[in-house]
Amino acid sequence: MSLFKDKGALSLDRLSVEIIGRTEEAKRLDKILEGTSQGFLPKVISVFGPPGSGKTLVTRKLCKDYEIKSEGKFKSIYVNIGGNRTVFSVANKLLAALGGEPQLSRIGVNGI
Ligand SMILES: Nc1ncnc2c1ncn2[C@@H]1O[C@H](COP(=O)(O)OP(=O)(O)OP(=O)(O)O)[C@@H](O)[C@H]1O
Ligand SMILES: [Mg+2]
Repeated sequence: MSLFKDKGALSLDRLSVEIIGRTEEAKRLDKILEGTSQGFLPKVISVFGPPGSGKTLVTRKLCKDYEIKSEGKFKSIYVNIGGNRTVFSVANKLLAALGGEPQLSRIGVNGI
């Protein structure tokens, strides 16, 4: 018998949870995502706040929702770069997430 009623509830990949108290933040991010359909593409969106306050959850969920809403025109990919220590390894991970072959470091970031 497991100690947990639903161990999957601990998974950070579970996006189907009820998000509490992030309506304003979600609205702001949603507005930015909506803007992409009119060609407004921000290079970076910074989301900041205390650890465990839902930054990743809200961002991933909204991106997934927007992907569905845009009927394939918008695609979101989640890449965790927490363990990557160099710009090259981050670039390589992004490349792999986009479907490319991982590269050897000698080709450099520009090569990627
Ligand atoms: N506002 C919220 N409503 C519902 N669940 C939440 C909320 N914030 C956090 N959680 C729960 O806590 C888990 C961890 O949250 P999340 O990873 O999004 O935090 P974070 O702000 O990205 O943390 P970190 O700064 O460590 O990256 C979520 O997967 C979710 O289960
Ligand atoms: Mg996070």
